[in-house]
Amino acid sequence: TTAAAMAATSVVVLDRGNNTTCTINLHGATVVSWRVNNQEQLFVSKLASFDGKKAIRGGIPFVFPQFGAWSFGPQHGFARITRWHLERPPERLHNGDVEAIFSLMDNDFTRSIWNYQFRISYRLILREKELHFHIGVYNPSKELSFTFNMLLHTYLKVPDVRRCQITGLQGCHFIDKTRENSLYQEGREVVTVNEWTDRIYQHTPQEHVITNVVSGRKMRLHKYNFPDTVIWNPWIDRSREMSDFGDDEFPNMLCVEAGNVTSPVILLPGTAFEASQILQQFKCPYTINS
Ligand code: BG6
Repeated sequence: TTAAAMAATSVVVLDRGNNTTCTINLHGATVVSWRVNNQEQLFVSKLASFDGKKAIRGGIPFVFPQFGAWSFGPQHGFARITRWHLERPPERLHNGDVEAIFSLMDNDFTRSIWNYQFRISYRLILREKELHFHIGVYNPSKELSFTFNMLLHTYLKVPDVRRCQITGLQGCHFIDKTRENSLYQEGREVVTVNEWTDRIYQHTPQEHVITNVVSGRKMRLHKYNFPDTVIWNPWIDRSREMSDFGDDEFPNMLCVEAGNVTSPVILLPGTAFEASQILQQFKCPYTINS
């Protein structure tokens, strides 16, 4: 039924050939699949709902303009539960890469929650072993500034989360949402996940490498203008609390989320904000610098 439900909703496929594709659901402009040589890189729960109401549990939901609980509206904002517009359909570039652009602007629904004018453009480029994300947010107002959080909530598919290592977090301060919301500092050269984990690492470097993703390969996450990195896995008890996540699925996912979370972005009238991310799957041995 999930497949049928997906067919009924609007999806856009970027096809680079060689069974390398990226599928975007216009509901939230959620990237719901990224295959490299037929191998899926992203986790989507078997219980994910595609009814166009809830956020899709998995893939890459787009978090805006709020990260986390929100007194004005839904958790993680409205962008992930709003239907986006396909601004430019998939187009093959001269080098073989495939590009598409999605957009979202304020409407009656968004203004009923958050009364600001805005325009977001979300450009995706599918390369051989890479997926590029370029985001622009524009404030068309003549008088009003607004502030926002933004985050790409990437669910990586992994064979066993306990065996993944995440680089680039040593020395960073983090908020641990599983404990009192106080600030800690990461001492580990590589971070591993062996229990319920929900951390906002601040001022992280531009690059993380995650080991032991599908087929034991590595994933490089490169980010620009996204100062924070959230690491999340619900583990057993929290999985049971989610209706759209299987109790036994937590070992097969790891969220590594690049965003602007701890200090919201302030966008003055008539100005724009840009951020980007690149996910790159690679096989070659990677030596972790010490
Ligand atoms: C993470 C948050 O980014 O998203 C977690 O840090 C949260 O606290 C998780 O539980 C999932 O959120 P949601 O709204 O999709 O269930």
